[in-house]
Amino acid sequence: MPRVAVVTGGTRGIGRAISAALKDGGYHVAAVYGGDDEAAQQFKADSGIPVYKFDVGVFTACADGVKAIETALGPVEILVNNAGITRDTTMHRMSFEQWNAVIQTNLTSCFNMSRQVIEGMRARGFGRIVNIGSINGQAGQFGQTNYAAAKAGMQGFTKSLAQEGAARGITVNLVAPGYVETDMVRAMPADVLEKIVARIPVGRLGKAEDIARAVLFLVADGAGFITGSTLSVNGGQHMY
Ligand code: CAA
Repeated sequence: MPRVAVVTGGTRGIGRAISAALKDGGYHVAAVYGGDDEAAQQFKADSGIPVYKFDVGVFTACADGVKAIETALGPVEILVNNAGITRDTTMHRMSFEQWNAVIQTNLTSCFNMSRQVIEGMRARGFGRIVNIGSINGQAGQFGQTNYAAAKAGMQGFTKSLAQEGAARGITVNLVAPGYVETDMVRAMPADVLEKIVARIPVGRLGKAEDIARAVLFLVADGAGFITGSTLSVNGGQHMY
């Protein structure tokens, strides 16, 4: 039986490429999304991948959502915590809402989703969790105290859960993308983005497929000795 993989934020941007790559790799994929129905329905029509709408920032919504996925597809053996948002602004202008929305959607979601699947993974002796971090969680970024804190938090989460899962066949890793051609990056001020691209040694923005390739590598059955690691995919922008 093909393994069942869940990708949060799985219908757009990096998540869309991860969902598609997993499907091409022979996995049964469920793509979770939070808001954009039109994009999700288009993705479903294009890819044939089922989509599930719920807010990964809300624990009970994740419990219900994962239950629905498992009823339809079977036990979740691979989880990709990819869903993320930005609310970029400097600290002296940041509201509590801007802080909290990013922490909840980007970091608390990792607990909310992993908690739903971890007991089953432990019982079956197999699991793959990949968290999508960011170069900005590693290096920090002007205007992103909320986002960088969440992404750095994901790194600590990854290393801790990796230790807990290691003896049960569960690996937990973090992929840290750099600046990738997505709506999130396209929304940045053009002059700011231009300066950032100038500092990428490879000389271009990443493609969503560049990130998906790394995820596919980490979720493979043969990747059982890789756990607690951070795989940077950033065109050489930050070597860490
Ligand atoms: N370092 C130092 N100073 C900086 C700076 C930086 N990186 N960026 C801006 N500044 C300075 C500016 O030069 C400016 O100085 P002056 O007033 O002396 O001219 C001052 O800070 C204010 O800058 P802005 O005019 O840009 O201020 P703003 O309030 O209009 O915007 C901002 C602030 C919203 C944070 C804007 O700078 C911004 O959007 N920055 C980009 C943040 C970013 O990289 N986000 C990544 C989004 S993609 C993503 O997150 C995916 C991923 O994982 C990589």
